[in-house]
Amino acid sequence: MELKAQALFPSVVWGTVIDDHVALNKELLALAYALRAKDARGVSRTNVAGWQSNNILQELPEFAQINQRILQACERIAESQHFMPGLTFDHQAWVNISPPGASNQVHFHANCYFSGVYYISLDAPKCGSLFFRDPRTASRMMPYPATKQTSFTATEIKMPPEPGRLYIFPGWLEHGVEINQSASDRVSISFNVTARAKI
Ligand SMILES: [Fe+2]
Repeated sequence: MELKAQALFPSVVWGTVIDDHVALNKELLALAYALRAKDARGVSRTNVAGWQSNNILQELPEFAQINQRILQACERIAESQHFMPGLTFDHQAWVNISPPGASNQVHFHANCYFSGVYYISLDAPKCGSLFFRDPRTASRMMPYPATKQTSFTATEIKMPPEPGRLYIFPGWLEHGVEINQSASDRVSISFNVTARAKI
């Protein structure tokens, strides 16, 4: 008997490392701390003990390079997902500075097609990982008694961070960030991306 497995409704996380991230991150790190110096309070969302900027990076010319990379990556993903041609992609992005002890509660991003994170500076693996939770909520009623954690059997999956790494995922996919247990700040940029028909 031949049994054929087919994944229905898979949840995909896309990842890449930006080519010239060393020079880019040096610049972004200085910009991130300069933003915090201008607005020490920042905003409070899912960040626990960490600093988060307003959603303003898309309007700041000094962040043009990373803004462009984010949009380029999302446009390629959208193409792979058969989005209709001719759409304009927009994003909102913000800086996260998570000192030792900081984390992010589990959440998802409504009203966007893609969300993601780009890592500027961190001390892995102690800085903590981004983790995703199985979005198939009904599957939590009867998890398989599996001996191996795979993307089919795990209820949570960690994605390791590294400077220069970009992760992009559907906005509806629940995620959080572990506690930073290193001695350094974990500095990243997060974003949400939408698309609209050109006018
Ligand atoms: Fe998030």
